[in-house]
Amino acid sequence: MINGTLLRWIKNAGVLLAVAMVSACGEEYLQSTIDPVTDYGEVSHNLYVQIFWWTMIILVVVWALMAYILIRFREKPGQGKPKQIHGHMGLEIAWTIAPAIIVVAIVIPTIQGVFQVQRPPDGDALVVEVTGKRYWWNFHFPEQGVTTANELHLPVGRPISLRLESGDVIHSFWVPQLGGKRDVNPVVAVPEGQEAKRNWMHFTIKEEGVFWGQCAEFCGEAHSLMGIRVIAETEEEFQAWLTEWQTPAPTANAPETGPAEDALSGGAEPDEADAQEVALTEDPLVARGREVFFRETTCVLCHAIQGTAAPGIIGPNLTRIGSRSTIGAGMLENTPENLARWIKDPIAVKPGVQMPGADYPASYEGITYPATNLNDEQIQALAAYLSSMR
Ligand code: CUA
Repeated sequence: MINGTLLRWIKNAGVLLAVAMVSACGEEYLQSTIDPVTDYGEVSHNLYVQIFWWTMIILVVVWALMAYILIRFREKPGQGKPKQIHGHMGLEIAWTIAPAIIVVAIVIPTIQGVFQVQRPPDGDALVVEVTGKRYWWNFHFPEQGVTTANELHLPVGRPISLRLESGDVIHSFWVPQLGGKRDVNPVVAVPEGQEAKRNWMHFTIKEEGVFWGQCAEFCGEAHSLMGIRVIAETEEEFQAWLTEWQTPAPTANAPETGPAEDALSGGAEPDEADAQEVALTEDPLVARGREVFFRETTCVLCHAIQGTAAPGIIGPNLTRIGSRSTIGAGMLENTPENLARWIKDPIAVKPGVQMPGADYPASYEGITYPATNLNDEQIQALAAYLSSMR
């Protein structure tokens, strides 16, 4: 009976062990904490590695002592009790001092690491204002006048300074390969002349790539669906991206009219040759979508598109949204079909999203935004218009 139970237990433990081992065999970890790509990430990773080896040494020493004691003092026939050591002064001192030494060995590099990642930013750092909102991210480059959402382009090899702020509740910015988590708090108003306190994060990215992250502080229903993509690219690619974002996409405005005069964004004029090209070849569905976006519904109350008359700041900025890889802060691959799905019924894709659907309203920070009442024809056209802005 007991043997049967024991056997089952061993079998279960074996299966668990096998699962644990197999689960460690994957090739690609999208949010790996042990593959840092910044100076910040390396500081915390090095600490992790140091502490790992300290604990390994302790493990080996403890196991070796245990093995020695088990063998040396095992019960033998005719042998009495071994010598008792209760109250042994030397041992008492040794096992008080040894852990203290271990703690000091961990504390010193940890404090050094904290100072390293908390140092003030380099004067020439690229500043990005990061705003967490339920449930997406706003990225604003104040010096370049560029705003985007959820997908952040950054150059490799240049100091970067993120200024973190929340538009509502506490979020946490976490892209594991860039470094640690940092709380994104609502900024408390301060008397005029003083600078409001914001959390910040500084790092220099060392390699190109797409690094995934997400909100790491419970902020509501869609907390786990509040994704981040950081696209780290060469300085040239980054500058090209900035220039592109400062210019309206060729299809953003109607080709014959050019950008609306009251555009708030100060974007540059679209290239004239581009506009003519678009006028000749434009997909009628795109033109129809633009009409829906600007005239038939209320998209512009919440969304902005650089270089057009859409000024909204409540929802994500849609500048060149066609060139983003995902929509809904990482929820869906960015295709016209998925855009249509999202516009019609966003809650089905992302429960908790603060955007109205075709048939239901949404509420954000105490304000209700009515259902869009868009029909399928309008939605298809909108999706085509948004996808066209690359
Ligand atoms: Cu934002 Cu969790």
